[in-house]
Amino acid sequence: MTEKVKIRSLLQDDIQEVRDLISEAGPFVSARTLSDYWLYSRFFSETCLVAEISGEIAGVVVAVLNQVTNSGDCYIQDVAVSSKFRGTGVGKVLMEHLELAVREHGYNKMWLTSEAANSNAIALWRRLGFVNSPADYQENDLWVTRDLKGKGKDRVVFEKSLK
Ligand SMILES: CC(C)(COP(=O)(O)OP(=O)(O)OC[C@H]1O[C@@H](n2cnc3c(N)ncnc32)[C@H](O)[C@@H]1OP(=O)(O)O)[C@@H](O)C(=O)NCCC(=O)NCCS
Repeated sequence: MTEKVKIRSLLQDDIQEVRDLISEAGPFVSARTLSDYWLYSRFFSETCLVAEISGEIAGVVVAVLNQVTNSGDCYIQDVAVSSKFRGTGVGKVLMEHLELAVREHGYNKMWLTSEAANSNAIALWRRLGFVNSPADYQENDLWVTRDLKGKGKDRVVFEKSLK
């Protein structure tokens, strides 16, 4: 299946299809607005990628390069594969292409937050070499970073060094 996958940047014409795909990919991801996807397609397209199979969008990764000078990290906001294409390597190929793009920009770290219950996603992050580094406290065998996204918004972080 993966040999037929084409990875390319998110385009403005894709945004409705991508939104529909993510709408159906819950409960661990939820769709953002069309305006958000327009923004990603226009301003972040080098790290917002889609996987296309026979003209259909099979998966998407939304990621951004930190613009703070010398930060060097890429934050992965959402990854989703259409249910009919899951388990065929689409998510892995998307993430590998993202890593190449991040490296090409000279960035040296990729990271994301994950729900502890999302075992499929956690298996993917680990398969790709992401690590849940020791943080503030442990819950269900995962390290949790306190207040990561604001007061009380504790998150499980996975990161991959590209050094
Ligand atoms: C998580 C998700 C993106 C994985 O995409 P995918 O295309 O199905 O994953 P792949 O087929 O590329 O699998 C790559 C690796 O991930 C792991 N993996 C993926 N799905 C798995 C599953 N159901 N069970 C066990 N391991 C799994 C495996 O290690 C696999 O490698 P292997 O087949 O060589 O062992 C997909 O399940 C999905 O879209 N889930 C809903 C949205 C979501 O929760 N996204 C993550 C939060 S942002």
